[in-house]
Amino acid sequence: MCVGANSIRPQMIILKDLLKIKIICNNKKKGLGIMLLEINDLCVNAEDKEILKGINLKINKGEIHVIMGPNGSGKTTTANAILNNPAYTKIGGNIIFDGQDITHEKTDEIARKGVFMSFQLPEEIPGVSVTNFLKYAKNKVTGEPVKIFAFKEELKKYMEELNMNPKYMERSLNVGFSGGEKKKNEILQMLVLNPKLAILDETDSGLDVDAIKTVSKGIEMFKNENNAVLIITHNTKILHSLKVDYVHVLVNGKIVKTGTQELAKEIEENGYSKYKN
Ligand SMILES: Nc1ncnc2c1ncn2[C@@H]1O[C@H](COP(=O)(O)OP(=O)(O)OP(=O)(O)O)[C@@H](O)[C@H]1O
Ligand SMILES: [Mg+2]
Repeated sequence: MCVGANSIRPQMIILKDLLKIKIICNNKKKGLGIMLLEINDLCVNAEDKEILKGINLKINKGEIHVIMGPNGSGKTTTANAILNNPAYTKIGGNIIFDGQDITHEKTDEIARKGVFMSFQLPEEIPGVSVTNFLKYAKNKVTGEPVKIFAFKEELKKYMEELNMNPKYMERSLNVGFSGGEKKKNEILQMLVLNPKLAILDETDSGLDVDAIKTVSKGIEMFKNENNAVLIITHNTKILHSLKVDYVHVLVNGKIVKTGTQELAKEIEENGYSKYKN
């Protein structure tokens, strides 16, 4: 018989519990492990067509998630549903963001609460400069006046980091921008608006190798322990230069598989056929 084993065990259990509590406290301090977005059984229609058929997704602060999936599977619809775009009708489920139910909240209110979405196809707005657009958006989101000199300096700093010509500050938003420049401009918006959750819908599509690295750099610059990123992509190249926490496969309106970065690699090699059934 092992003398004293039974009396040591409770101490070990206590020590283990203390260790667990310490890890939880440290994570809470860092913002890690705290739920930022929770989507429960979300069902969404567009023009009476059932698009999302019960989406479940949880994103904690400090995490980067990726949604991949075939064309038309519902990725952009998921992003639009989070922002409650009125073109989509929620017929079931709910969305909790930062502890509040935003399922039926107005889009601008959701943006004010800290959700940002970059567009798959960014709009051109003639007559509104990049600076004025961002200044207006920042003011709307924060509710505070924007000090123009400091703001322009901040913009310039971010543009340099993103290898964007600072002269573009005065150009009309996206007018005459190349596909890659439009996508970088979306990342610039994310950095300036500094949301709690950034949803990037194919921000990496149509980018050359260097621009993909620049976009990854922008995401790294943005990310911290108190915010989160949801990347929608077809392109596993962005995952070569960015470490992500979870990859979800969305097929026919449902998340059919969740894994780590390895899952993206597997999809790159084998495609979606095994998930389509
Ligand atoms: N506003 C809308 N009105 C009608 N149908 C829509 C609307 N938005 C999306 N759909 C349909 O919903 C389905 C899913 O579209 P969604 O844009 O979410 O796909 P996706 O996964 O983002 O595809 P992709 O990879 O091509 O961007 C498609 O069949 C699309 O035609
Ligand atoms: Mg899409």
